[in-house]
Order: sequence, then structure tokens, then C-alpha cells
Amino acid sequence: MECNRQMKFVMLELALVLFFMRSCASEIFPKAQNVTWSSVNFKSILTWSPKPTNYSYTVEFSEVGQDRKRTGHCIKTMETECDLTAELQNPKANYSADILSEPMQGVFSDLVEFPHVSSKKFSPYYDTAIGKPEFKIEVNSDKRKTTLYVTDIPTALFNEDKKRLNIRDVFRDNLQYKVTYRKAKSTGKKEKISKSSIIELPDLDQGVSYCFYVQAFLSFRALDKQHGEISNIQCSPEDNTSIFEEYGMGVIVGAILIILAITTIIIVIVMCCRRGKAAKNTGKETLALKGDDVMLKIYRPVDCGHDHTDIRRRCTSSEEV
Ligand SMILES: *[C@@H]1O[C@H](CO)[C@@H](O)[C@H](O)[C@H]1NC(C)=O
Ligand SMILES: *[C@@H]1O[C@H](CO)[C@@H](O)[C@H](O)[C@H]1NC(C)=O
Ligand SMILES: *[C@@H]1O[C@H](CO)[C@@H](O)[C@H](O)[C@H]1NC(C)=O
Repeated sequence: MECNRQMKFVMLELALVLFFMRSCASEIFPKAQNVTWSSVNFKSILTWSPKPTNYSYTVEFSEVGQDRKRTGHCIKTMETECDLTAELQNPKANYSADILSEPMQGVFSDLVEFPHVSSKKFSPYYDTAIGKPEFKIEVNSDKRKTTLYVTDIPTALFNEDKKRLNIRDVFRDNLQYKVTYRKAKSTGKKEKISKSSIIELPDLDQGVSYCFYVQAFLSFRALDKQHGEISNIQCSPEDNTSIFEEYGMGVIVGAILIILAITTIIIVIVMCCRRGKAAKNTGKETLALKGDDVMLKIYRPVDCGHDHTDIRRRCTSSEEV
């Protein structure tokens, strides 16, 4: 009786071991490959491959030297990316992450440890790429100074009051901008590095159009991560107030003379027409008008009423004056 029971127990154990061995052999969880941090303006996403079919991935991350954490949306996921922006709460810290290959949600496995792959170390402050800034050009009214107003790019980070931080809020005095500029009609480039988001360029040639682009410049970083993406190119307007310089005195005097001549011709034509009309309207007045009294001619239509005899009388009398 006792022996029988023991026998049964051993058999059961054997069956269980066999079962687990078989299930272990058939469960293959491929390791993640190409684990990469991609981060722009502090939006930080971990990506990897390949796409899973009958298994899933779980992401664990930690600040170097601290406990590992998981985040709800990257547990047993069938995706190949995990947005960790909100989890990396200390931008200056070094983070690393592990991608675990696990059974799909709801599938049991007796494996104690799943295959995993570690990412490189990543520090948002030192590694995130900075996008292209926007800026406005202002040329001083005396044309002596050009100022660029750069808008500090918003980041994916928020402060305690849920206010979005821009790159100036995060980098403070460590943020600089590099302006690259050239005359619109030349290719020789110059650079200026500014600690401020308002960049003054006092020594440009007056009245000349310059073209500018701007990028964030983080000199405290490793060489290959110092430069942000370059902005669109914008050019200052060419100076068009001093037409004397541009066209020369002769051309302007010529233009004025031509305008004067045209005006004179128009006046003469108008006067002739009026005179011709008046002569037609009252035939007998032709004689009176031959006196060529301009005052008489101009005022006659007002002075003389509709009555023709009256016109003749009054006009005659005015001529007599
Ligand atoms: C997933 O399927 C592949 C091929 O069908 C198989 O080799 C592998 O063991 C399966 N993995 C799991 C975890 O079921
Ligand atoms: C990993 O990246 C390499 C090179 O970028 C590529 O050739 C390879 O196919 C990638 N592996 C997977 C599983 O996508
Ligand atoms: C992060 O790592 C870099 C390089 O390994 C190191 O110089 C730096 O001090 C580290 N930062 C922190 C906050 O541990």
C-alpha cells in the first residue's frame, strides 16, 4: 500500500518533468536586436526588432545604480518600441534599458529567466537631438544692426505645474545658438555663437541682404552631439530706401522731367478741348474769345446762365471790362 503510493508519486513527478522538458524545448523566445534610443527634443523612444509573432517584449529600465522599473504600456507588448519620455524623470541621469522576450499575454511559461538584451546608456540631457529652431530677422531702422529673435524649441518635458518646458528651461546657460550667415550674393560663410536667444549682429554691411540659418549649440556635449538641426534659411531684405544710391542722380532727374512733360501735355490737351467745345456751343462767341482772355474763358460757364441772350449780353459786358 505504502509502496504503491510512493510509486504513483514518482510516476507523477516523472510525468511533470517530461512535460516541462518538452515545453521548454518548444518555447523559443528570440532576443531583441538593434536596440536603439531615438530621442528628439527630450521625447525619448526605445526601438528594437524584430516584430514578434507568438511571443512578446517587456521593457525594464533603470537609472544607473538604481532599481529596475517597468512601465504599464511596455509590458508584454507586441510592439517594437516603447516611449519612455515620461519615465526618464532625471534628464541628466544615465539610463539603461533591457528588452525581455516573454510569452504572450495570458500564456503561461515556467521559464525562470527570459532572454534579454541591454540597450546602450542614454542620458536625455547629453544625448537627445535638438530640432530646427525658428527665428525672426529684424534690421534696425538705421540699418546698422541686424537682430535675430530665436524661439526656444518646446520639449516633451513638463515641470511640476504641468507647464511644458522649452530647451532654454532645461539647458539654461548651457544653451547657445550658432548663426551661420553670408551675403545673399556671395558664398563666403561666417559664424557667430550666442549665449542668448536674441542674437545681435552689429557689424554687417549696411543695406546688403544677408542670409542666415540658426541651430542650437551645446558645447558641453560630446562633439558629435553638440549641434542641433539647422533651421530654414532666411534672408534680410535688400535696402531699397536709398534709391539715389541704387539708380543714380541722372535717372531720377530724368524721371522727374518726363513726369513734368507728361503733365504739361495733359494740361495743354485739356485746355484745347475746352476751348474747342466752347467755340462750338456758341458760334458768335468765337469772336469774343479771340481776345484770349483766360479768366473769361474759365468763368464763363458759371457766369452765364441757360438763357442764350443773357449769356451773350453778360459775356460781352465782361469782355468790355
Ligand atoms: C513561436 O513559433 C516559432 C515557429 O513557429 C517556434 O519555433 C517558437 O518556438 C514559438 N515560440 C513560442 C514562444 O511559442
Ligand atoms: C538590425 O539592423 C541591421 C543594420 O541596420 C539590419 O541589417 C538588420 O536587418 C536589423 N535586424 C533586424 C532583426 O531588423
Ligand atoms: C553618465 O555617464 C557619463 C559617461 O559614462 C559620465 O561621465 C557621467 O558622469 C554620468 N552621469 C551621471 C549623472 O552619472
